[in-house]
Amino acid sequence: MAHPPIRILFVCLGNICRSPAAEAVFQKIASDYNFPVHLDSAGISNWHAGEQADPRMRKAAKKRGYEIHSIARPFQPADFDRFDQIIVMDDANYDHLKALATTDEEIDKIYRMSDFLSEHSDDHIPDPYYGGEQGFDFVIDLLEDASKGLLQSLLT
Ligand code: 4NP
Repeated sequence: MAHPPIRILFVCLGNICRSPAAEAVFQKIASDYNFPVHLDSAGISNWHAGEQADPRMRKAAKKRGYEIHSIARPFQPADFDRFDQIIVMDDANYDHLKALATTDEEIDKIYRMSDFLSEHSDDHIPDPYYGGEQGFDFVIDLLEDASKGLLQSLLT
């Protein structure tokens, strides 16, 4: 019998750029492999709660064949129970979630998306919010690379 979907939450600061894009890119790669996943994304902040992803991020994703449907929401402590893995975009995200964790088991669920990169050597997914279009395209480059590594890590 097929295993139940692995539950993964992607987290960034605003939940309107990097983590919604990570959700869309990984969903496509997992679906292409018929690998069952249950995905969501959330923000460290509630600054953009209820908003669609940033139009610049949606445009960069669409150019590469991904549709982002996410509506922003803040991370909640209950997400530690609701998900098997919580994958953050940078060290500030990591430190914030680690401080919210109440058990070692919860801390062990937190991963960095950059740890799954193989073609790039970046140690985080850079925040594109205050930059130009290129930054959004580069986020997609990194997320495609890391998503392949993440899927590989789940298959082995
Ligand atoms: P994200 O990008 O964390 O990738 O969603 C940001 C979005 C909004 C802000 C910062 C980063 N902001 O300052 O509002």
